[in-house]
Amino acid sequence: MPHNPAGDGEHHGLVLQPRNVQFDWNALPMHWIPGEPMATHVINVLHLLLPEGERWFVRTFKEALPLIRDERLREEVLGFVGQEAIHAEAHQGVLDHLLAKGLDPRPYTRQAEYLFQRVLGEHPELTGTAARENLIERVAVIAAIEHFTAFLGDWVLNADALDRAGVDPTMLDLIRWHGAEEVEHRSVAFDLLRHLDQGYTRRIRAMAITGPVLVHLWVRGTRFLMANDPTLVPGQARASWRAYTAASKRGLLPRLGRAARSAARYLSRGYHPTQEGSTRQAVAYLGTSPAARAAAH
Ligand SMILES: [Fe+2]
Ligand SMILES: [Fe+2]
Repeated sequence: MPHNPAGDGEHHGLVLQPRNVQFDWNALPMHWIPGEPMATHVINVLHLLLPEGERWFVRTFKEALPLIRDERLREEVLGFVGQEAIHAEAHQGVLDHLLAKGLDPRPYTRQAEYLFQRVLGEHPELTGTAARENLIERVAVIAAIEHFTAFLGDWVLNADALDRAGVDPTMLDLIRWHGAEEVEHRSVAFDLLRHLDQGYTRRIRAMAITGPVLVHLWVRGTRFLMANDPTLVPGQARASWRAYTAASKRGLLPRLGRAARSAARYLSRGYHPTQEGSTRQAVAYLGTSPAARAAAH
């Protein structure tokens, strides 16, 4: 991700719009990066986690609306909520397709439901300061996750190797459309967190928990998909760090070192999401994305 401490000048004055995209998965091959089952399934973990995760973002941010005392931020939060609601349903479509193709995602997605609905869900029994604290803590976790979604969005917009590898064009458009909207709205969760809590401690604590948990969920998700892929024979169904590193060197997955350095930048006191990625590039992709263009008509 390009690091730009001066911030992203294109970002100011942006109005976040949901784009009501549709995707047809009928022709999607199981290994939509041809000949790369593991790299395909590493990226497929997005479909396992995002429907429940992004529905949880939507519920949490709607819960936070009454606490917002800034009209511009309120509008941005509403735009963010509209975008994330559509992202969740777009990835749900891929889950339904995997199920129809004989890869049942439900043993994993039931765990994601438990995480996002129970562990991280609303706590109606809390009142007053305890309720507010719990809500702000969840906003801080979302701000940390949004750092990674923006990192991944910037990565996928620049991952030319995916074009050269002959990736299924509909899937490539899904992950680039989504990635572009993640770059476009990358400041909203962070700005909401700062609006509700000016402090530094909560941001750092949330990242210290969120980063390792995401790695854990990703490893489990990749292993789950490989083990349950009906087109792989048992000897092929193993995921390994060595294979990950090899695929990342070919440009098919993000480099782990870059992801770690990006997470470290989130810990600096002067961090702001506009220092990472390019709004200009994201908006340019959204102007050419087949799904976004079709949604505009
Ligand atoms: Fe999203
Ligand atoms: Fe997002």
